[in-house]
Amino acid sequence: MAVDKHLFLIGMQGCGKSSLGKRTAKETGVPFADTDVMVAQSAGGTVNEFFEKYGEETFRRAETNALAALTYARPMIISTGGGTVLNPVNRHIMRSWGTIVLIDRPLEDILSDIKLDRRPTLRDGGLAEVERVYHERLPIYRDLADITLRNDQGYHMAVYILTRLVRERL
Ligand code: S3P
Repeated sequence: MAVDKHLFLIGMQGCGKSSLGKRTAKETGVPFADTDVMVAQSAGGTVNEFFEKYGEETFRRAETNALAALTYARPMIISTGGGTVLNPVNRHIMRSWGTIVLIDRPLEDILSDIKLDRRPTLRDGGLAEVERVYHERLPIYRDLADITLRNDQGYHMAVYILTRLVRERL
């Protein structure tokens, strides 16, 4: 049975999951977790360093462990990595433990300010790779999401909408 506990933020890299989640947590007093940060900190460094040292497969395993560990925590806003949705186990955990919110930001906006140097899976392919991955994953994000937050009217509007959602749900 599904438990309506957490609010999981999913979406493409550069869509604003972490920054919106963090800021909304501050506004509402609801705790915030970021699976990327949990994985990176478990090895005492950044996501980039984790990938360099241990590779993507280990990162993906650690990401699932982080998600699973959070099922024991009190209700939270949880920012996931852009690739979290690719693993069926992760999809099952999110579906079972809360509401899934897609942060849907237009591709042009993502392309205009995405920080590639912090993103090991996109760094080499550049903006063309961002575009490819965006089109590949969008149907998966849309299929999984309970709610879609269209992030196309600026940061403050998106924080406002997410804050209302958190107050309604958590
Ligand atoms: C990834 C997204 C990243 C991070 C890792 C892999 C992906 O998270 O988990 O670099 O495959 O899309 P962000 O979406 O926060 O950049």
